[in-house]
Amino acid sequence: MPQIFPKGVNPLARLLVLGLPMMFGATGVGLAAFYRSSYATGVDEVVPQPVAFSHAHHVGQLGIHCLYCHTTVEDSHFANVPPTKTCMNCHMQMWTSADLLEPVRKSYREDKPVVWNRVHNVPHYAYFNHSIHVAKGVGCQSCHGNIDQMNLTFQSKTLLMEWCISCHRNPQENLRPKSEVFSMTWAPGKQVDGKDQVWRREDLPNWGQVADSNGKLVDSKWVGDLVGKPRPKTQGELGPVLKDLYGVRDAVTMTGCSMCHR
Ligand code: HEC
Ligand code: HEC
Ligand code: HEC
Ligand code: HEC
Ligand code: HEC
Repeated sequence: MPQIFPKGVNPLARLLVLGLPMMFGATGVGLAAFYRSSYATGVDEVVPQPVAFSHAHHVGQLGIHCLYCHTTVEDSHFANVPPTKTCMNCHMQMWTSADLLEPVRKSYREDKPVVWNRVHNVPHYAYFNHSIHVAKGVGCQSCHGNIDQMNLTFQSKTLLMEWCISCHRNPQENLRPKSEVFSMTWAPGKQVDGKDQVWRREDLPNWGQVADSNGKLVDSKWVGDLVGKPRPKTQGELGPVLKDLYGVRDAVTMTGCSMCHR
């Protein structure tokens, strides 16, 4: 993308330049409506891809975990799209002559990556970071919808500033236990195999650990006591507990301009 601003321009100045036309322009109802329309935001729009890759087949039916392909989403600000090698782990053996997969084989033969078209795109003047959301218990589904049912991938949320802020103002409504972040079927209070949900060790943060007499880190008593106990059954009860456990900051900090415009 061409750089609109020279390096070193103060971020606030950038916001003013971007914001003023917006503030005057958007007084027209028509323009405001356009701004929120799916045409302008790209919601529900299928993006053409060099290979008709289906999350519905690979995730919904075959049950492959998101991390098998999107390996960096927990550790990085950026969630990678998988390299050709990841596809070839299976497609060396399966569907080896399918025309649909020819671009993948060609990429492998020629050692050139498949060029996937971006589906989600936040403008460069806003800062977004995957790993912090995943670490604090925001599920992929909350932001990407039911990816496991999509044949071709599309954007299910507007990604507009008002969308980010509405969650930042009330994060407890969207937090889930950490072990459920990748799940596409989790809901508070929902039974799994006829049993109530219980706390798992992975749901609890590392500050739950203390040093034992040999200086080795072990789980403190409250962690031991909580694991295996029922989780609260409604979001209203569960959310505030998770907000405390994960140390999610207050609404004022979370909605401050400098959080996302640095
Ligand atoms: C077998 C590999 C594989 C698995 C497993 C997988 N994905 Fe993907 N994903 C891809 C590929 C390839 C693309 C790029 C093509 C596309 O957009 O459909 C992609 C694209 C995406 C995108 C859109 C990226 C963009 O361009 O904005 C999202 C969001 C996404 N995946 C989320 C998930 C989630 C959530 C899971 C687990 C529920 C998952 N994926 C599991 C391979 C995979
Ligand atoms: C863990 C094994 C595995 C991996 C990894 C994998 N696939 Fe597949 N893929 C399959 C299987 C099995 C099928 C057949 C699915 C069916 O017919 O239901 C398939 C089918 C397909 C098809 C045929 C159309 C369809 O969806 O049925 C395409 C295209 C495809 N895969 C692309 C990819 C791409 C691109 C990647 C890498 C991002 C990839 N696959 C990674 C197992 C895998
Ligand atoms: C808080 C909302 C949110 C959550 C939670 C979230 N994503 Fe994203 N995701 C986004 C946004 C926003 C983008 C666009 C980022 C950009 O343009 O820089 C994106 C982009 C992506 C991309 C495209 C590559 C990239 O980084 O631009 C993939 C792949 C992806 N997400 C996968 C996942 C997976 C897998 C999970 C769950 C582990 C997940 N996301 C959780 C909001 C989210
Ligand atoms: C569904 C809820 C949700 C949505 C939607 C969401 N966030 Fe967040 N975001 C959170 C939570 C929870 C945190 C963790 C806050 C904390 O650690 O105190 C967070 C933290 C952040 C941080 C802090 C990162 C850091 O390193 O301190 C940034 C930046 C951020 N979000 C940007 C965005 C942007 C930009 C969007 C929209 C494209 C967005 N978020 C959408 C819930 C959300
Ligand atoms: C939680 C993240 C977040 C916070 C907090 C945030 N913004 Fe944004 N902002 C974004 C995102 C994402 C975009 C790009 C998407 C869009 O245009 O809505 C954006 C776009 C903008 C724009 C470009 C014009 C527009 O709306 O398209 C301006 C101006 C702006 N923000 C000003 C502010 C100001 C002023 C504050 C503090 C009151 C603020 N933002 C707080 C995420 C945030």
